[in-house]
Amino acid sequence: MGGGSSSKIGRWARPSSSNLIISPRPKFVDPSEEIVPESPVADLRSDTITQPTAEMRRAMAEAVVADDGREGDPTARKLESMAAALTGHEAALFCTSGTMGNLVAFLTHLQPGDQILAERDSHFLHFEASGCTALVGALPVTLAGRAGRMDLAELESSVNPGSRLKPRTAMIVAENTHNLAGGTCLDVDYMRGLWDIARRHDLFVHLDGARVFNAAVALEVEAKELTQGCQSVMIDLSKGLCAPYGALLCGSEEFIVGARARRQRVGGNVRQIGHMAAAGIVALETMVDRLAEDHANARRLAESIEEVRPGLIDLDLVQTNIVYLDARPLGVSEAALVCALEEAGVRCLATGPNRVRLVTHHDGDAGQIEHAIVVLGKVLKAFPGA
Ligand SMILES: Cc1ncc(COP(=O)(O)O)c(C=O)c1O
Repeated sequence: MGGGSSSKIGRWARPSSSNLIISPRPKFVDPSEEIVPESPVADLRSDTITQPTAEMRRAMAEAVVADDGREGDPTARKLESMAAALTGHEAALFCTSGTMGNLVAFLTHLQPGDQILAERDSHFLHFEASGCTALVGALPVTLAGRAGRMDLAELESSVNPGSRLKPRTAMIVAENTHNLAGGTCLDVDYMRGLWDIARRHDLFVHLDGARVFNAAVALEVEAKELTQGCQSVMIDLSKGLCAPYGALLCGSEEFIVGARARRQRVGGNVRQIGHMAAAGIVALETMVDRLAEDHANARRLAESIEEVRPGLIDLDLVQTNIVYLDARPLGVSEAALVCALEEAGVRCLATGPNRVRLVTHHDGDAGQIEHAIVVLGKVLKAFPGA
C-alpha cells in the first residue's frame, strides 16, 4: 500500500469501454493505485449521498454539548424543540436515523400481536430489516396504494376491532412523500381523512415523514398541516436536508417520555449528540425552502427524458425530487440500464424489476443536471426498444 491521499479513498474508476449494454461494474480503486481522470459524474442515486454544508460543519465543531445520558445535551434539546414546533407537536426525540425513529414509534405505540395497516410499498416494510415484526411483534396488513395513497374506504373497512381470534388494529402508517411510489405527496385533505378514520376507531396514525418537507414545499403548505393530527411523525435530516445524521420522532409529551425509554432500549442514546444536533439545526433553518430547487431539477430531468424517449416516465408521479424510469420499453433490464448510464457518467439506482430511480438533491447542482440530461438523451436513444 502506498501513501495515497485520503481524497482518493473510495473513488471509483470508470471503465472506458464504449459498449453501453454489457459493461463491467466500476471497480474499487485501491488508494495506492493511480487514479484515472474522471469525466463529470452526476450522482443521482439518492438524496442521502448529500454532504453536510460548510455551515453545518462549522456548527458541529462549535456546538455546546453535554452528556445526553446524564444532564442532557442542550443542542439536542434545541433541535427537538424546533422539530416539535415545525410538526405541530408538543415534543420530539432525536434519533440516530429514520429507521430508528419509525422503530421507536412502533415500540412505543404497539403491543406484540397488534395489527398495523400500511400501504404495500411502504419503506418500513421493504427496507427497515423487518423491525416492526422482529422487534415489536406487530402484524402489518398491507393495502395496495395509488401514488402512495391507500383507498380510505378500503382502509376503514380493514380496521379490525380485535377478538379472541383476530388481531386488533392499533395503528395506521402513512408515508409522505412516498418513496417507492415516486416521491408522491399526501395532501392535507388526505391526511385529514386518515385522522378521521383513526379518531372513529381509536387508532394511532404514525407518519413516516422522512421527506415530509418535500411534500410541504411541493404542496405549498406548512409541514405541520400534514403532520399535526398524527400521534407520531418521523422527520429525517439526512436526505434532502443534507445533514449527516439523524431523524426526529415527534408527538405528545407523554408519547416522547415513552419513546425516550424505547430509544434507550435499542441503544439509541448517544452522549455528546449535540455535535450532530447542531448540523440538524442548520438543516432545518437553511435547507427546507431550497428543496423547491431539487423539485424543479427533477421536473426538468423527467421532461427531458419524456421528450427523447416518451413513455418511460409517468410525469404525474414526478411531484418532488424522485424520478422513476421504466426500463421495459427500452428492451433492457434495469441493471443494464444502470450500468450504461453509470458508464456514461450518471449514477442511478435499480430499485426493483424494470425500475430505475434518479433522485435530485443539493449536491447535484444545475450543471450536473444539465450533464445528466445530455447523457440520458444519448444513452436512452441508443437502446433499440422492446
Ligand atoms: C420513506 C423513508 N422512510 C424511512 C427511511 C429511513 O431513513 P434512514 O435512512 O435515516 O434510516 C427512508 C430512507 O431512505 C425513507 O426513504
